[in-house]
Amino acid sequence: MKFTYYGHSAFSLSDEKTTILFDPFITDNPWTDMSPADISCQYIFVSHGHGDHYGDTDAIAKAQDALVISTAEIAGLAGAHGCKNHALHIGGTWHFPFGRIHLTPALHGAGIPGGLACGCLVEMAGKRIYYAGDTGLFSDMKLLDRFGPIDGAILPIGDNFTMGIEDAALAASWIHASFVIPVHYGTWPIINADPQEYKRLSETKYNVPVHIVAPGTVYEF
Ligand code: NI
Ligand code: MN
Repeated sequence: MKFTYYGHSAFSLSDEKTTILFDPFITDNPWTDMSPADISCQYIFVSHGHGDHYGDTDAIAKAQDALVISTAEIAGLAGAHGCKNHALHIGGTWHFPFGRIHLTPALHGAGIPGGLACGCLVEMAGKRIYYAGDTGLFSDMKLLDRFGPIDGAILPIGDNFTMGIEDAALAASWIHASFVIPVHYGTWPIINADPQEYKRLSETKYNVPVHIVAPGTVYEF
């Protein structure tokens, strides 16, 4: 499995056959010079409708003929823009050709009227990955491993709009993930968390390994 990081909360997970792009904020993302046309994928997961997450969903989905996966409201928005889409909602699971996606709650604004923000559990290539989306800490994170062990968790640490490093470290311990990759930090001064401080806190206080992935690089696990 490959985690390819574009910076902020934009990344992809790929196995040998399938690439799922998450929260494809590319054009205005200060971490990357890539153009949406440079990115290939078969699926796009969108956690909520804020611009730093919905991002270039429409352009990439249409160029790649990719399926947009999100809550009903965001999937509906993508559909209205001419994108193929699959709507789920929180608590629901769907089996795709690559594996399963289960939508999890997120304590955050939807960025679209009547919607909800979400995260997800992704099962593909024999791994189970949790992507929190934008969220504050919530104690139901303790239930995320009820389907089986979580091989990796991708958590926001930037504070102000989401968990900061203290809550994200506690979240890592509740999730019982084999490791955490921190995201959603440093893009703007208002979310300037230090990933090294997060790593130290999570590893020393809670014994959960943290892998800091530099934007533009790939982490394989
Ligand atoms: Ni947001
Ligand atoms: Mn955000």
